[in-house]
Formats: sequence, structure tokens, C-alpha cells
Amino acid sequence: TMRALRDRHHELREDILAGRADGVARQHRLGKRTARERIDALLDEGSFIELDMYRRHQAHGLRMEENRPHTDGVVTGSGTIDGRRVFVYAQDFTIFGGSLGAAHASKIHKVMDLAISTGSPLIGLIDSGGARIQEGVVSLSGYGGIFQRSVQASGVIPQISVVLGPCAGGAAYTVALADFAFMVRDTAQLYLTGPDVVEAVSGQRVTHAELGGADVHGRRSGVATFVHDDEDACLADVRYLVSMLPANNLEYPPRSPECDATTDLRPRLADIVPVEPNRPYDMRAVVAELVDDGEYLEMHENWAQNVICLLARIDGEVVGVVGNQPMVLAGVLDVDAAQKAARFVRFCDAFSIPIVTLIDVPGFLPGVDQEHSGIIRHGAKLLYAYCEATVPRIHVIVRKAYGGAYIVMDSRTIGTDLSLAWPTNEIAVMGAEGAVNVIFRKELAAAADPARLRAELVEEYAEQLMHPHYAAERGLVDDVIDPVQTRAAVARGLAMLRNKRKPTPQRKHGNVPL
Ligand code: COA
Repeated sequence: TMRALRDRHHELREDILAGRADGVARQHRLGKRTARERIDALLDEGSFIELDMYRRHQAHGLRMEENRPHTDGVVTGSGTIDGRRVFVYAQDFTIFGGSLGAAHASKIHKVMDLAISTGSPLIGLIDSGGARIQEGVVSLSGYGGIFQRSVQASGVIPQISVVLGPCAGGAAYTVALADFAFMVRDTAQLYLTGPDVVEAVSGQRVTHAELGGADVHGRRSGVATFVHDDEDACLADVRYLVSMLPANNLEYPPRSPECDATTDLRPRLADIVPVEPNRPYDMRAVVAELVDDGEYLEMHENWAQNVICLLARIDGEVVGVVGNQPMVLAGVLDVDAAQKAARFVRFCDAFSIPIVTLIDVPGFLPGVDQEHSGIIRHGAKLLYAYCEATVPRIHVIVRKAYGGAYIVMDSRTIGTDLSLAWPTNEIAVMGAEGAVNVIFRKELAAAADPARLRAELVEEYAEQLMHPHYAAERGLVDDVIDPVQTRAAVARGLAMLRNKRKPTPQRKHGNVPL
């Protein structure tokens, strides 16, 4: 009867949804949620539409016929975050260690294809032993299919990878190719070759966490954009991130209501930045005064801290903020900082997010190590990213803007739309002392009182060349503003630039210095 058929149907579904008790218990013991619990935590309640629940592998040999669990170790489908559609896959470590075989891979391919064709963000929740060993080369080809789709989707839909367990071998590229990578402390492990192989090849003994734990990737390698202590905080931040992103490259990020920022004076801004050029301060304190509610989401909080990259809103409009951070290495640019900021600028540009650059930069980090590590090549990435960006671009010179680093930080001639400067700053090829020593070397050597002459020349140089009015008279700064007006000026600038369009030349693609 229909009744019996329906009962059987519900029984099977409930069985699949419940998962295997021992596996679920193991996940919980390790401080991990199950794939379905993670999806529930990520998506709006009741919004999940599951696809391919009944899927099972069709593999033969190695006793695979005896073990054919439903879902094949990954839960896939779609749901909403704050009412906006996203596509999701969540690997289930309780089934074959979340490893990826042919059926598992084709389920992921399907949600990727749907995310691309519907123009929706893709979120991957990763917890997997990697390529399923029993399915051999077919598993590897499954990863190839993910990578190929991920690259095609790059710059079209936002892609977010969340590492909530192991992610080893080629699988690591599902993280590297995404726009954002989240990792959770203690449970996430991300590496190409595991500790055993490292030891066999190099003799070096290293733990999983030392090799590829969340903090290693959050502080040293720069692979992890965000690191969290637990899954709840992590998935909550994924939701926060999605709330600031457009669904795809043809849409704008969601706007919040305007909040009178265009007339908002911020007295505190007059006190945050010390006039003395070498006194450090936290650029995030400036950001907190500029953005709505002082709220922002910082990328790579613990990596390349001499530059800050964050998403926030100004007058309800999502912006990407890039800023030098004088608190760390005096805010110089170096290899890591250039890479971090370059990728962020390119992300913002791809997804119609205006860029606000806060400049206080003494230069590039001098050093043999930096030069030999290719700072020229890496600095060029940031230069290239800015030159190429067609979204609205506004910069504020809050103190120092020196030399090549100033040019790279979205200067007027590489295409910023609006250049604002505070009156206290120092814009020049180099600092006054250094400049005078170069251009008046002979005069100083011949002088009766070189110290006095040097002091005179330094003052003259500083007065004539370094004031923002020198740049403003030459059209390189659009306006010199009182610091307290910065939030209002940036908000007005964003409104002015809202409909900016800038066609790019016909070409296959540029050759960004990778
Ligand atoms: N293919 C098939 N099955 C796999 C697998 C893989 N790549 N990785 C894990 N599994 C299975 C295990 O056989 C085990 O199955 P069982 O429960 O039936 O015994 C289950 O997943 C759990 O794995 P286990 O090793 O007990 O978990 P762990 O937490 O101790 O270790 C890993 C996790 C990922 C470190 C470990 O499983 C591992 O090293 N896997 C192989 C990783 C790899 O080299 N993959 C190929 C990369 S291209």
C-alpha cells in the first residue's frame, strides 16, 4: 500500500539523516559538529534544500561493494543566509573519512555548477582525508573537476572554503583557490604532504598542528584568511562575511540604510595620529571612526600585520579598506604585506566593492632578505592590482607618503579617483634628513658648520616640498581636509563615485606578476 511505501521512504530518510551513531559520537568527542549540524548552523533555519541524498558510490574491488553508505560522505545543496541564496557542500568525516570518490566529487561538481549558473556564493565545509584511496585515479580526477570549476568561477561568484578537520594533499587547493579560507584551531589541518611524508623525506619530525594547523596558516603562510577558536564562532563569521558580499560579479554588495555619514564629524580623529613621524599608533583606531558603527571584518588579522585589509560599511555602502599599520614595522610594505593587500584589492575590484586606502607609509622594508625574496616582484602585485582596479577608489593620506611605496598605495597617477590628505603629513620622495644628505652632500662636506646648514636645509625642504598643499597645487591631492571631516568626506566621495564605469581593454587577460 501507499502507506507502507511512505513509511519505508521515511524510515530510510531518517536513517540517512541520523548518520552513524559511532561516527557522530567521534565527531562530537573531537569538538567537531557533524556535516548536517554545520549546515544548520550556517544557513537560515529551515532553508536547506538537499540534493543527492541517496547518492552512493559505484566502485568495485577492495571490498567496496560491501560498504555503500548513502550521501557518499558529503552533504550538498542550497539554502539562504539572511535570506540570500548560497550553495553549500559539507564533507562528512564519518563516512570513509570524508574522502572524495567519484560520486562524492560529482555531487560537489553539481552544486558548483548550480552556484555558477544561478550566480550565488559557494561555501565548502571541508573535513576530509582527501582523495579516496580505494577509488584511485578517479578520485584525483574528481579534484581536477573541482579546481577547474573553481577557477572558472573566480571573480564571478564569491567562493569560501571552511576547514573544519583534515584537508590534505591536492585537496588543499580547494582552499587556496577560494577567495576566503576559514580555519578552526585544534581541529583544522591543512597541508600538501603530511607529517609522515615530511619525516620520510627530510627526517624532520613535526606534528599535524605545527605543519598545517590554523595558527600556522593564520600567522606564517597566509593561507588562512580567518582563524577561529571553535566552529560556532567560525560559521557565524562566515555568515557575517556573506552579508557584505554581492551574490556575483554582476550585482552590488547589499546596502544598509544610509546613516548621515556625509555630515558626521569625528573629533577623535584629530587625536589618534601623532604628528611626530616616528610615533606608532593603531590604524584600526582610525578605521573604527570612519566606518559605520565602528564595525569591520579584518582579513589576515595575524599575518603581514604591517598592512590591514578589512571589509566594512560607510553610510551603508560596503567598502574594502586597505591601510598601512604604523604599529607594526612602522607600516612599511614588505613581501607578505604586498601579497596580502594585492589579493584583497583584486577581490574588491572583481566584486564591485569600492576601495578606501589609508596611507601612512614610510617606504618598502629595506633589507637583503626582502630584496632576495623578490620584493620587487611582490610589490608589483599590489601596484598591478591598484592600476587595474575599476571600482571607486578613494585614498586618505593621514601622515607619511614616501617614495615608491606612496606610488603603489593607490596614488593619484595610478588611478585613484579621489585623493584626500590631512594637513599634518609628509608627502615626498624621501624624508627630509635623507633628502638633504643626498642633494646637498657636497655643500655639507664643505660647510664650516655642517650641523647648522643641515638643520636649515631640512627645514627648508620640509616646508617647501613635503606639505600636502605642494601636492594639491599640482593636482596630485584633490583636497586637504581637517581629520575630523574624514568620515564625511569619504562618504561624500563614495556617493560621488557610485556610478563609476571604466571599460577595460580587450585582451585575454593581463600578465599580473605572480
Ligand atoms: N581514502 C579512504 N579512506 C580514508 C581516507 C582516504 N583518503 N582517509 C581516511 N579514510 C578513512 C580511514 O580509513 C578510516 O576508515 P574507518 O573508520 O573505516 O577505519 C576513517 O576514514 C577515519 O580515518 P582515521 O585515519 O581513523 O582518522 P584520523 O582522524 O586518525 O586521521 C587523517 C585522519 C586524514 C590524518 C588520516 O585518515 C589520513 O592520513 N588519511 C589519508 C590522507 C591521504 O594521504 N589522502 C590522500 C591525499 S591526495
